[in-house]
This record gives sequence, C-alpha cells and structure tokens, in this order.
Amino acid sequence: MIFVTGGAGFIGSNFVLEWLAQSPEPVVNVDKLTYAGNLGNLADVAHDARLVFVQADINDTARMAALLSQHKPRAILHFAAESHVDRSVHGPGEFITTNINGTFSLLEATRAYWAHLPEADKAAFRFLHVSTDEVYGTLGPDDAPFAETNAYAPNSPYAASKAASDHLVRAYYHTYGLPVVTTNCSNNYGPYQFPEKLIPLMIANALAGKALPIYGDGQQVRDWLYVGDHCAAIRAVLADGIVGEVYNIGGWNERANLDVVHGLIELLDDLAPRADGASYKTQIATVQDRPGHDRRYAIDARKIARELGWKPVETFETGIRKTVQWYLANSDWMKDVQSGDYLKWLERNYAGRDSNVTQPGLVKAASFL
Ligand code: NAD
Ligand code: TYD
Repeated sequence: MIFVTGGAGFIGSNFVLEWLAQSPEPVVNVDKLTYAGNLGNLADVAHDARLVFVQADINDTARMAALLSQHKPRAILHFAAESHVDRSVHGPGEFITTNINGTFSLLEATRAYWAHLPEADKAAFRFLHVSTDEVYGTLGPDDAPFAETNAYAPNSPYAASKAASDHLVRAYYHTYGLPVVTTNCSNNYGPYQFPEKLIPLMIANALAGKALPIYGDGQQVRDWLYVGDHCAAIRAVLADGIVGEVYNIGGWNERANLDVVHGLIELLDDLAPRADGASYKTQIATVQDRPGHDRRYAIDARKIARELGWKPVETFETGIRKTVQWYLANSDWMKDVQSGDYLKWLERNYAGRDSNVTQPGLVKAASFL
C-alpha cells in the first residue's frame, strides 16, 4: 500500500480520489486535520475499504514509526504542509514546525522503517516529497523558467520552510541512501482548494458579492497547473522517477493575476450572472501588496516530459472552466469550509490592507469580510 501525508488537503485529497479510482492499491492517509484538512473532500471514498484514515501529526515520530510498521507501505507520498504564503507572513512558526521539523520527523521514522525492510523491498521503496517552485525565488520578465538546476532563493517564510525540507530530503538520500524523489510544482488549481488561495477566493467572493482583492498592481505572474495534471505527474514520478532526482512540474500556463481574475469573471458572468445584470468586474478592488511578493514564477517542465513522458492535459482555459463549474456545483462544500476559523483569517489578512494603499479602486476592508 501507499502512505499519504496531508491527504485531506487540496492536492492530497485529489491525489487519493484519483488513486483509488485508477489503482486497486490501498492508501493510508495520515493527516492532522488543520484548518486546511477536510475529510469532506474524501466523502466519495469514505466507505472504500482500501482507504484508512489516521488523524496524526507528522511531528509525532513515534506515531509515524508505529504506523509505518503497522501498514508496511511500499512508498510515502509527503503532501502535508502549511501551504499558504500569506499565513506564513502573519505567523511563520507553524511553517517551521510542520514543513521543516515535521518533514525531519517523518524522514527519521521512514529511515528506521526502511532500514529493516528486506533488500528487494528496500530497493523498491520510495519517499516522494511534494514541494513547490517557490523555493527558486522570483523571475524577471525575460528570465528563463525555473529548471531543476536553478539555485534556491526562497523569499517568504513558506518558501524558506519548503526549501529547508527539500534540503533535508536530499540529505537523507546522499547520507543514508533513502530512496527519495522530489517534485517542485507550480500553482495548482481545481476542485477542493481552500478558499484562501487566489482562484477559489475570487470565486467565493464574487458569488458572495464581496470585493475581489488584487494585491498591488496584479501583474504578478504565476504558472497555473490543473490539480489533476499534477496528480498524474506524481503518479509518473512514483512509477518511473529516478531515485535522488528532482522533477519540476508545471502547466505551461503563465498568467498575470489580473488576467486570471478577468478570466474567472468572464466565466462567472456567463455561468452564474449577477441578479442585477452587472459584471462581477465591478467588485475588483486593488489592495496593499503582500510583503516580499514574488513577481513571477514559471516552470520548465521539459525534464519530466522527456524522461517520464508526462505532459499536462489541461490548458488554462479548459482547466479553469472545469474548476468554476465544480465550485458552482458544490456550493455546500464551499459553505462548509467557510467556518469561524476562515472568517477570522479573512479579518486578519484583509482588514489591515486599506491603511497604506494609494491605488485607486480601493474598497473598504469590511467588504472583503
Ligand atoms: P493544503 O494546505 O490544502 O493541505 C495541507 C494538508 O496537510 C491539510 O490536510 C493539513 O491538515 C495537513 N497537515 C498540515 N500540517 C500537518 C501536520 N503537522 N501533520 C499532518 N498533516 C498536516 O495544501 P495543498 O495545497 O494540498 O499542498 C500540498 C503540498 O503541495 C504541500 O506540501 C505544498 O507545499 C505543495 N504545493 C502546493 C501548491 C499549491 O498550489 N497548492 C503548489 C506547489 C506545492
Ligand atoms: P496564492 O493563491 O496565495 O498562491 P502563491 O502565493 O503561492 O502564488 O496567490 C496567487 C497570486 O495571487 C499571488 O501573486 C498573490 C495573489 N493574490 C491576490 O492578488 N489577492 C489575494 O487575495 C490572494 C489570496 C492572492
């Protein structure tokens, strides 16, 4: 069986759902269920006997060791992390605890488990570490996209904590021979993404008649990867990735934030028009920028295409349409995750942003809440 951490989060739950749909192999899903973890994401497979859920913290090395010897997985897919840059700006501590210490703790438990496997199982075992392109820092408008050989230059506490975890994973390969592979992917989007991130936040706010908060000039560029394509890439790396190697995964879909929001608005105006006939455009508001905001990310995904034959299937247009349709069809899911804790986060992240803003178009922070 495979052992997944963070399988109740956005990417992890998409991965578990797809895995169970395309493979008979059982899954142990270990998740702490932080604000970002939601078992509702796995409701469709809740009664599938092949899925075992364990609520546990990856920092609990003894628990991880016990779970590994109980379930004897052939692979660990490590998704669990604190994942939101803005939260890392407000409170970096949890990012150090989970992303660095938690990965260390999991690596220690894995090393002990792996060391006692029979030789053939030892050779076949994989620790697949899911990481981000943000470890590479930021690009200028004409720079080449990030390749696996780029130097690390993280700029946010989130990116720095993921960079540290990547280094630990690498060190366990070089020092102990643990068979690791690392993937660094670009911004994911799709079903079950928590509405703190750009795309689901904009959909949720638009439909609720709230402001659509664009940080700074909205010209920051991200490379958007449909989550289903990401999951397929991870399966390809698990199956055929070379031990010790890194694979960058991207969607070949660079877009400025403002263009992403305009694209969403166009779809929403068409699929769920406002009752008053006005465009959702009228809800756009420019707000104070994120500190240390990276200007551009772009992924050179040629290595995984060349070596493992993986390429994204979705274009941004097809992926974003599917995504908007999913959120429109799953308004109950959205309602459920917009709980007390979520409202506290909106207050914390957006309420202070009107103070130093000079851009025209600013709307009062209260309308984000
Ligand atoms: P997410 O925030 O939606 O989910 C994270 C999951 O990890 C949650 O279910 C949470 O409960 C769990 N978790 C957090 N701390 C834990 C702990 N200490 N022990 C056990 N479980 C814990 O994140 P996501 O967007 O699904 O991202 C998954 C992985 O992919 C992360 O490692 C992230 O850094 C990486 N990544 C995400 C993106 C993206 O666009 N979302 C892009 C690049 C890389
Ligand atoms: P986000 O989804 O938080 O992902 P990341 O910071 O990991 O790239 O943000 C994507 C982009 O959207 C990023 O440039 C920040 C911007 N953004 C806004 O302009 N407004 C918002 O309210 C949010 C959440 C993000």
